[in-house]
Amino acid sequence: MVIDDINDSEAIVKEYFDSGFVHIKTDPKNINPDVLKQIGKYFGKLLVTGKHHIPGDRYIQLISEDALFGSGDVPWHNDFSYSPGDYHGSLLAFVEADTPTYTEFTDCNEAYIQLSEEDKKYIEDVECTFGIPGKYDGLISDTQVKVIQKVVMKRPMAMTHPVTHQKSIYFSPETLMETNKPIDKERYVKHCESIAFKHHWDTGSMILWDNRRMLHRRKPFTGHRKLLRVNFQYEFKEHDYTVH
Ligand SMILES: [Fe+2]
Repeated sequence: MVIDDINDSEAIVKEYFDSGFVHIKTDPKNINPDVLKQIGKYFGKLLVTGKHHIPGDRYIQLISEDALFGSGDVPWHNDFSYSPGDYHGSLLAFVEADTPTYTEFTDCNEAYIQLSEEDKKYIEDVECTFGIPGKYDGLISDTQVKVIQKVVMKRPMAMTHPVTHQKSIYFSPETLMETNKPIDKERYVKHCESIAFKHHWDTGSMILWDNRRMLHRRKPFTGHRKLLRVNFQYEFKEHDYTVH
């Protein structure tokens, strides 16, 4: 389902928690910092970044060939797996590109449902430790590196969602450092990948995804490509969301 009303917070939040992924197609003039922050705040608190933000606005990260992540391969991962900051969701908005471009996603809630009972039982007590691969050195600020290095981030592979209470496979292959018992990582990557889909970017497009549920990746590209990103933390303290 594509949502075209940026002010329909109820529909956006519902689609987000029901499917883990929202595509908003809007007037290109709405791809601006104020609207991105407005939508991020439907979920809670916005991340303030120390690096790679647009001039004068530390909530809006710039993603382009010469900014965050450059133009290289960014394999399957969950954003902020390694961070104690718990930024649960991401919003990414397309500004421009000189060649067709896409980002790939896969729903690890659905992938969990499709696991055999044996696999579900096996991963129930798997604990994953996450870190930042060395190749990303320099992408985050020195302060953030210090915070992350102080905390060894461990998370359960059978991840229970903090709002919907549904389970997903959570293992962020790119940032997974070790597990407390052996897993065949490549087998789980293939399993999750089998239901992957591509989001092809076009003008006026923005997407939101749930980092407790969706894996995403991006292939290397050449030329110019510019997107804006906002990360948010859930603040659903008074009630739980019921999956429809
Ligand atoms: Fe990412």
